[in-house]
Parts: sequence; structure tokens; C-alpha cells
Amino acid sequence: MTDQELVERARAAALRAYAPYSHFHVGCAIESTHGEVVSGANMENACYRLGICAEQSALTAAQAAFGLENVARIAVAGGRIEGGSLAGEGACTPCGGCRQAILEAAQLSGRDVEIICANGEGSRVERHSISTLMPHGFGPANLADASGG
Ligand code: THU
Repeated sequence: MTDQELVERARAAALRAYAPYSHFHVGCAIESTHGEVVSGANMENACYRLGICAEQSALTAAQAAFGLENVARIAVAGGRIEGGSLAGEGACTPCGGCRQAILEAAQLSGRDVEIICANGEGSRVERHSISTLMPHGFGPANLADASGG
């Protein structure tokens, strides 16, 4: 699948977001090392801080479908819904919590994970990787010195 196709999967997922509070719809599509794709969207809650980000939602689907250790590439797109499709100019990059969750997958696999960040329209794309978005992060590798580790 091309980067743009993965972005389109993320944009389509964003249409299924539940975002009645922020009105900011985010979709995420994750491709496995074998080319399988799963997706997810943000799901907000009346207790605002309990909302779930699109990336976390898609990572849960990825774990169920092919395992976190097989996550290869991630596309994220966010914006407003306009005329039934996702719109907006600014590229949506993963929040800090989502970066932490992506780092977990990257360290499990021993590979860097590519993150394609798109605007709502899908016309602007930034290409990053978890190693550049979260340098010097704390992940499972840092727990090697724990007792029983
Ligand atoms: N959001 C995501 O789903 N992913 C991100 O990486 C950034 C933020 C969601 C959370 C909330 O539902 C809305 O966007 C506004 O912050």
C-alpha cells in the first residue's frame, strides 16, 4: 500500500470518530510487516480526560489482528468534518501519550516505526519516525535492569 493509500484509510477511519466535545476527528491506519491494515478513531467521553486517541484505538486493533511487534507503518489524519469528509489544513502529529504507545511497538519489534502525519484534506503529509518524534524515550528496553527482567 502506498503512503497516500494508508493516509486515505486513516481519513476514512476519522469519519467514524466519536468526537462530540472537541469536534476534532482523528483517524489512524496501521500496516503490519505483512501488509495487513487495521484502523481506529478517537473516542471521546463526557468525562473529558477519559477519551481515547485514534492511535491508541488503532494500536489495540493491531495487537488483536497481528501483534504490536509486527507494526510497521502508521498513518494519522485529523481535522473537522465538512460536507461528509475530513477537512482541515494542519498535519496531525501523535500526542505524547500516543508516541509512548508507538515506542512500545517499535522496541518490541526492534525496528523504527514510520509515522505519516496528514492534514484533514490529505493534501499535506509529513513523514516522521518514532525515533525522531520521541528521541531518548523510555520503553520496554529500559526495564532490562528490573529484578526478574
Ligand atoms: N487526538 C487523537 O486522537 N490523536 C492525537 O494524537 C491527538 C489528539 C484526539 C484526542 C481528542 O479526542 C481530540 O483529538 C482533540 O484533542
